[in-house]
Amino acid sequence: MTHTSYEEAFGRAPQATAQAPGRVNLLGEHTDYQGGFVLPTAIPQQATVALGRNGTDEHVLYSANLDQTIRVPVGEVGSGFAPYLTGCFALSGVQEGLNAFITSDVPSGGLSSSAALEVATLRALRDLADLDLDDVALALRGVQVEHEFVGVKCGVMDQMASSLADTRTMLLIDTRSLDRRAVPFPAGAEVLVIDSGVPRRLAESGYNERRAQVEEAARLLGVPQLRDVTDPAAVETLPPILRERARHVVTENNRVLAALEPGVDAVRFGQLMNASHASLKGDYAVSHERVDELVALLQAHPDVYGARMTGAGFGGAVVALVRQGQATATAQAVLAGYSEQGSQVVP
Ligand code: GLA
Repeated sequence: MTHTSYEEAFGRAPQATAQAPGRVNLLGEHTDYQGGFVLPTAIPQQATVALGRNGTDEHVLYSANLDQTIRVPVGEVGSGFAPYLTGCFALSGVQEGLNAFITSDVPSGGLSSSAALEVATLRALRDLADLDLDDVALALRGVQVEHEFVGVKCGVMDQMASSLADTRTMLLIDTRSLDRRAVPFPAGAEVLVIDSGVPRRLAESGYNERRAQVEEAARLLGVPQLRDVTDPAAVETLPPILRERARHVVTENNRVLAALEPGVDAVRFGQLMNASHASLKGDYAVSHERVDELVALLQAHPDVYGARMTGAGFGGAVVALVRQGQATATAQAVLAGYSEQGSQVVP
């Protein structure tokens, strides 16, 4: 039977409870593991994690979404959703059994449901164990959990966004220095997010492969990271595939910088989003046929300034910049003509 609260699942009150949001990235996709710039915003959907000590040598982890309990001895990683939590516990020096109640309304696929879970877990743990962790260090610990316990060599964007972004502005992050500042949305526009209904396939292997390819491209170009290349012509000397992958990262970085120039309005921002999608589909090859269909329907709608896939790709969510007040009507019109069962996520 599904438990609806920590109290109901474990028969007592939790000792710490925290939430953390998912994110949608407006521009700057697949640049954050090459030191580039990203422009995510938080979404209203959140993960919630409640924790309490259970006085045993075993963690008892309950996911309300899955209605599943996983028991993991302290010091072990476990499988399924367990590593997201046990990774946080291990890297925070937890030596005693914890009970955890987890619930989330962040859809899986492109909106950082895993980062939200890690950041919520680490926030609850910070409270419970009085950890000395600021919001940036907390985000970086979440990244370390992905690398060492989940096995995805992600960049820093998702955990930084979940830990530091709000829903009212975009958060420009320089993923090399971790400098950041809030950037307003273009005037007269609002953000629409649609879940394509296409489950992500091969996302982890495809992601790690892209990362290896652009690392190799940077090595061949003699730069520490592709962030250090600003002229797209420089990648033309690379062998095929590496050339296309590097071209995406370099042009995408330039698109983020172009979006920050003075006088950029919703129309210009939308054009940059459309160009980003074309680059992710062509040069980076991380889109999906159905996602392309949805993006094309959005781009053809008169109230849409621009649309693109968002997140790692291989299925998942799309983001559009839409005329203020028109997001829901646009979503309804577009979903009526879409061949899969998509759904509006934001607003
Ligand atoms: C995933 C990763 C991020 C980032 C995006 C693509 O969400 O977790 O670090 O690389 O893909 O921009």
